[in-house]
Amino acid sequence: MSILVAGGAGYIGSHTVWELVREGFDVLVVDDLSSGKRELVRDVPFVQVDLREEGAVRRLLRSRSFSAVLHFASLIQVGESIREPLKYYSHNLLISLNLINAMLETGVDRLIFSSSAAVYGDPLETPIPETHPLNPVNPYGRTKGMVERILEDCVRAGGLRSISLRYFNAAGADPQGRTGECHEPETHLVPNILLSALGRGPGLQIYGGDFPTPDGTAVRDYVHVTDLAAAHVLALKALLAGAPADVYNLGTEKGHSVLEVVAAAEKVIGRDVPRTIGPKRPGDVAVLLASKEKAAKALGWTPRLSSLETIVATAWEWHRRSR
Ligand code: UFG
Repeated sequence: MSILVAGGAGYIGSHTVWELVREGFDVLVVDDLSSGKRELVRDVPFVQVDLREEGAVRRLLRSRSFSAVLHFASLIQVGESIREPLKYYSHNLLISLNLINAMLETGVDRLIFSSSAAVYGDPLETPIPETHPLNPVNPYGRTKGMVERILEDCVRAGGLRSISLRYFNAAGADPQGRTGECHEPETHLVPNILLSALGRGPGLQIYGGDFPTPDGTAVRDYVHVTDLAAAHVLALKALLAGAPADVYNLGTEKGHSVLEVVAAAEKVIGRDVPRTIGPKRPGDVAVLLASKEKAAKALGWTPRLSSLETIVATAWEWHRRSR
């Protein structure tokens, strides 16, 4: 069964590619390598295509008979999206439209879309259920919400079934060391902690120490990227078995503060992490936790590697070896 993985050379995409390979799927990775890296999916069939080019996407979908598309190809930096909104709207929407159009034209009717907790905006309740209103507060989150809406409309019109997966805080690295996190620039907490421990970069800055949380730092729902990858395989199998279109949170319902993540890292790596506490990052909320019920019930998904210790230990192995 042939699966097209768009953006499969990126962080979450590459982990999912390895899970698909392990499950025996015939995978083709397509990536423009603007932020993805070929070596993260070494030996897996690969084509480099700019997915903003409609004709190229159409040719790709016609090049073989795909059973489904997994769509990870997206710009992901919240801060950059506020500074350069049009870049995000054109990139994230255009690629999604090109893929959906080409799928409809070629009769490929199953799609898994990488969405984000960013579609919820400031939470009105915690943990956040999938029924929570969508009120994204930055252009990045808006592009994700818009694509979800486009998918809903296309599903209603017929010819497509899609599952949107709303990731909370993806972290950690492949326990086998084949892939891991390497964003440029790096903005995420776990890699920034490890880079600080390695003495690389400017040192960790903690964004805000006076949130209304027990230790004053922001609380997030960290989920191991290999658990996210496993959820994609479950969602794909559900679609292949005829499941209807839907949306699912992917999180653990368990929160950790920034200082707890730093402490877990110091324990795993056995040294202090240099850090300073600075001002809040605009748009950061105090607590963001996923309700995990729906994915557990409908997809049978259970996070297995998402303890803070395993997240940090696998990420540390990756950073130590590959940076
Ligand atoms: N943080 C720091 N210092 C850093 C980096 C992060 O203190 O150097 C803090 C943040 O303020 C936040 C927490 O660590 O409280 C996690 O920050 P990340 O940047 O790792 O992740 P976010 O929660 O900001 O964003 C993640 C995804 C986004 C997605 C969002 C959904 O990376 O793509 O969740 O709300 F939009």
